[in-house]
Amino acid sequence: MQFSTFQKNLDDWQGASLIFGVVEEEIESQLENIKFVVDPKLLLKKFTAKKFKGEKGGILNFEFLGQKLDTLIVIGLGKSKDLNKNDIKNSIGNLIRKIVDINEKISILLPWELINSQLEIHNLAESARLSAYKDNRFNKKKDENRVLKEIEFLNLKKFEDISFEETEDICEGVELARRLVAAPPNSLTPKKMSIIASQIGKDHCLEVKILDAKECEDLGMGAYLAVAKGSDLESKFIHLTLKAEGPIKEKIALVGKGLTFDSGGYNLKVGASQIEMMKYDMGGSAAVLGAAKALGAIKPKGLEIHFIVAACENMINGSAVHPGDVVKASNGKTIEINNTDAEGRLTLADALTYASNLKPDSIIDLATLTGAIVVALGNDVAGFWSNNNDLANDLKKASAEAGEELWQMPLQKSYKEGLKSHIADMKNTGPRAGGSITAALFLEEFFHEDIKWAHIDIAGTCWTDKNKGINPSGATGFGVKTLVQWIKNK
Ligand code: BES
Ligand code: MG
Ligand code: ZN
Repeated sequence: MQFSTFQKNLDDWQGASLIFGVVEEEIESQLENIKFVVDPKLLLKKFTAKKFKGEKGGILNFEFLGQKLDTLIVIGLGKSKDLNKNDIKNSIGNLIRKIVDINEKISILLPWELINSQLEIHNLAESARLSAYKDNRFNKKKDENRVLKEIEFLNLKKFEDISFEETEDICEGVELARRLVAAPPNSLTPKKMSIIASQIGKDHCLEVKILDAKECEDLGMGAYLAVAKGSDLESKFIHLTLKAEGPIKEKIALVGKGLTFDSGGYNLKVGASQIEMMKYDMGGSAAVLGAAKALGAIKPKGLEIHFIVAACENMINGSAVHPGDVVKASNGKTIEINNTDAEGRLTLADALTYASNLKPDSIIDLATLTGAIVVALGNDVAGFWSNNNDLANDLKKASAEAGEELWQMPLQKSYKEGLKSHIADMKNTGPRAGGSITAALFLEEFFHEDIKWAHIDIAGTCWTDKNKGINPSGATGFGVKTLVQWIKNK
């Protein structure tokens, strides 16, 4: 899908569907802006008849059989002083989802004078496209062509030379992440993930390294391999490197949890633990690979960025890890696996050690790590932890700009007590209370303390059961936009 602008004289414009946003005051003067398709006086009469004043959430639909336009959809944006860019994005998103199957092109005309920056326009474009996303890969519509092909912005005079190239790259990244997360576990295996990663590498000139189990064993990755042992599928350790041409100012590692399925292992997921949804336990790696695709296209200057995923499945067979096993991670620390369902942190232990050995300035990991974060923050907000205030602030800023919500959680040192083991250097699971915090504290044991680090627990945000704002029901692709924005801000 493409973005375009129409900056010429509006009298020369033609289209099929036009979304026209109005705020709640001075309706008459706003209607002057649409006189190129409809008589403002006539429209004002209709508004009055339908008691529409531009209030937030209000929608009016008009069918024309004129030569210039088929459908005009007027959306109310509420009072201009309360105008909130998330509200605009969400109302456009909800609307576009309804008409995506009808129109090849949707045009948008908003009170641009109330929109302050290119970033907001880019966000709006992103939201429009991401709301229209559909996934028919696994049903009988799979060969149907999508109807909506173009989103056009009218009269963006204020931003004459705006380009949407990077917005398209970011959307591609988010959409890839959504496809990966939504793919069932018999389709997206660790091997398939490694093939997709290699393809990203090929397409965008990234260095590709895929390690099999034997190579990981040689590196001493006993924690990651313990998780993979119960699966009949090969594990794949994925490492992509995107290196800018010229001098490198900063080295970054992005690490994602990549469990293509999490049964819980011998601590099997039972009852309400939603075992059937655990295909999305690779949401962190999907965000990292989505970011790799987007950044591979954007090619940020002065940076060396590593994308790392220790992909595998958590399953049960005769060689699966026992609850109570002690394993050794590649940094030499031993771990008593008192719960096989806390497997993500075991894979991340070796992935973080590997990242740490690359000596980056900062590491960000993303993971669907704990049910506890879903209890704490619900499905709209992801929790994050960091050992560095500058990094934490930069992440907060990036996520706000990207429109993904993050909430900082404490690295409460006193809770380390909960990870003490009688037999090994640590256990993988602490008490129920503060479960997402002990998980973060566990991760902190696996990289050099001088490295700036942040961990984002996306267990609640990587999936939505219902259409919500810019996210159609299903995989959200959460994390891609924040990662890319954080890198772009550098
Ligand atoms: N993948 C799960 C976490 C999860 C739960 C993600 C719900 C999305 C929705 C993770 O591997 C897990 O099972 N965590 C356990 C940890 C516990 C055993 C300490 C959990 O949260 O129950
Ligand atoms: Mg688990
Ligand atoms: Zn898991």
